[in-house]
Amino acid sequence: MRIGIFDSGIGGLTTLVACLRYLPDEEYFFFADNANAPYGDRDPGQVREWTEKAYEYFLARSADAVVLACNSATSAAAATLREHSRKVPVIGIEPAIKKALSADDGRILLLATELTARGEKLQQLLQGLPGGMERVDVLACPGWMEIIERQDHQWREQAGKYWEQHIAGVMDTGIRGIVLGCTHYCWLAGDILRWTGSGCQVFDGNDGVARQLYRQVMGREAPEPGRIPARVRMHFCFSANAQEKKSLAVRLLASHGMKVEDADRETDPAPCLRLAP
Ligand code: DGL
Repeated sequence: MRIGIFDSGIGGLTTLVACLRYLPDEEYFFFADNANAPYGDRDPGQVREWTEKAYEYFLARSADAVVLACNSATSAAAATLREHSRKVPVIGIEPAIKKALSADDGRILLLATELTARGEKLQQLLQGLPGGMERVDVLACPGWMEIIERQDHQWREQAGKYWEQHIAGVMDTGIRGIVLGCTHYCWLAGDILRWTGSGCQVFDGNDGVARQLYRQVMGREAPEPGRIPARVRMHFCFSANAQEKKSLAVRLLASHGMKVEDADRETDPAPCLRLAP
C-alpha cells in the first residue's frame, strides 16, 4: 500500500513516525511544501490551493491514502478536499484537545499556528467538546515553526528562548495540560515537559491520526501500536532545498532508531512540485 504524508516541513515526520507504529510495512511518500512555509502565516484560501495540489501529487503516485500531517492544512483544506476528491481518503490531523480535557480537569493551553488558532475548524471543535470553551486557552505562536524547521545547532536553544518570552508567562496561570496544535512543535515535546515541570501533561494528535489512517485503509480498529520499525522505505519530496532537506529527514528519522532506505536513490529524484505563489 502507498501512503502520502503532507506537511509544510519536517513537522510531518513526527506524524509519519506515529503511522509507522501501526503500518510499518507500507510504502510512504513524504511531501513537504517548505518553499511556501510557514503555512500558519498564510491565507487559508492559498493553503487550500497548495494542499489540493499536494493531494494531486499523491494521486499521481497512486497513493491509497493521504495524511495531512499539518494542522494548518487540515484547518484550511480537509473539508473541501473530502467533498471534492472522493478517490482516495484524506486523513487530517486535529489538536488532541479532547484527550487533554479528559486527562485532567484543570485548564488546557493549546499552542498552534495563527491559521489554526483563528480557523473556524478549531472554533467548531471547541464548541463541540464539554469544557472546550471554558477550559481551553488558545495561543498562536508565530515564528516558532521557523526556528524548529531550521534544525541548526542553535534551534533548540532559540526555541527555549521563544518559550520563555512568549509562552512561559501564560503557564503561570495554572495550566495542567498543553496541546501541541502544530506538528512542528512535536519535536519539542520532551523539552516542553521539562520546561513546564511536573504536573503538566503534553498531548499531540499524531497517534489519533495514525489510528484513523489504520481504520481507513485496513477497515478495522487499530491494534496496540507496535515498535518503530528498524528500516523504512521512503520517497521524499521537498519543494525547496530538496537534497539538504532529504538528508535532514533521514537524520531525524535515524534519531528515532530508523534506517531509511531512500527509494529514489538509484533513479531520478521524484520531481518536486513548485507550489510557490
Ligand atoms: N506543521 C504545520 C502545522 O501543523 C505547519 C506549520 C506552518 O507551516 O506554519 O500546522
